Amino acid sequence: MAQEFVLISREENIAILTINRPDKYNALNDQVMAEIDAALDELRADDDVRAIIMTGAGDKAFVSGADIGMLQDLKSSPEAVANSRRGQAMTLKIESLSKPVIAAINGYALGGGLELAMACDIRIAADTARLGQPEINLGINPGYGGTQRLPRLVGKGMAKLLILTGDMIDAEEALRIGLVQKVVPLADLMDEAKALAKKLATKPPLTLAACKGAIDLGLEVDLERGLSIESLEFGVLCSTEDYKEGTSAFLEKRKPVFKGR
Ligand code: COA
Repeated sequence: MAQEFVLISREENIAILTINRPDKYNALNDQVMAEIDAALDELRADDDVRAIIMTGAGDKAFVSGADIGMLQDLKSSPEAVANSRRGQAMTLKIESLSKPVIAAINGYALGGGLELAMACDIRIAADTARLGQPEINLGINPGYGGTQRLPRLVGKGMAKLLILTGDMIDAEEALRIGLVQKVVPLADLMDEAKALAKKLATKPPLTLAACKGAIDLGLEVDLERGLSIESLEFGVLCSTEDYKEGTSAFLEKRKPVFKGR
């Protein structure tokens, strides 16, 4: 589907979703969000896509946040709540994709940009990236999931430090606190992200989805329930063709070929 602010490219079994509004540092307005939503639907339905990379166009920003002009145009509390729910729905859609999603953070990831990146499964940052939740400086709170996902990722104290000050941190600090999983030179960012996505694309898709789901859902329930989610998934996976393929390939000393069945 032709879109103005979101580009999709494919390479082998991976797709790259690029938020493409570089003159505004890829800020999220209604149209950008609607296009991200449509792109996610397209990628979800495409069985040939086994892993996804999200990134921003240009070398300045991943996403600089919600479009501040759009925020200022919100006329009423119900309209603002609806905007927040729309942003949250976008992050939930990313998180609930059965395919792994990697954020390749190529510059500023601020506000809604960091919230988008936090909904991805794994974050790789360029050494030039700067991350933060600066909403406090606008008189609002993070509204696309930041108050909930940031503490889940980095702990309550660090999340409060970042959200209450609105300060940006650099990529190395983000790595230190566990907000990103890897930092690489900007020039290597897409190669690194593609190599990881291609590696994930060789894994059994149903198993990837089950692991992702058990981790995400398990963290929201107590240990006993989390363990039962794990066992149920284990039971389901043991009846898949890919399980037979994976175990047979090991015993036959060959590389497995997984089909997602
Ligand atoms: N919403 C709307 N426009 C934005 C934006 C945002 N969140 N972030 C950047 N832009 C626009 C700027 O208005 C500017 O557009 P212009 O050239 O038409 O004036 C362009 O992107 C470049 O930004 P600029 O501020 O000139 O670049 P910079 O390198 O000096 O600073 C940032 C970059 C990211 C530090 C700065 O733009 C910024 O603080 N942005 C807002 C971040 C924010 O508060 N995000 C949370 C929103 S909830």
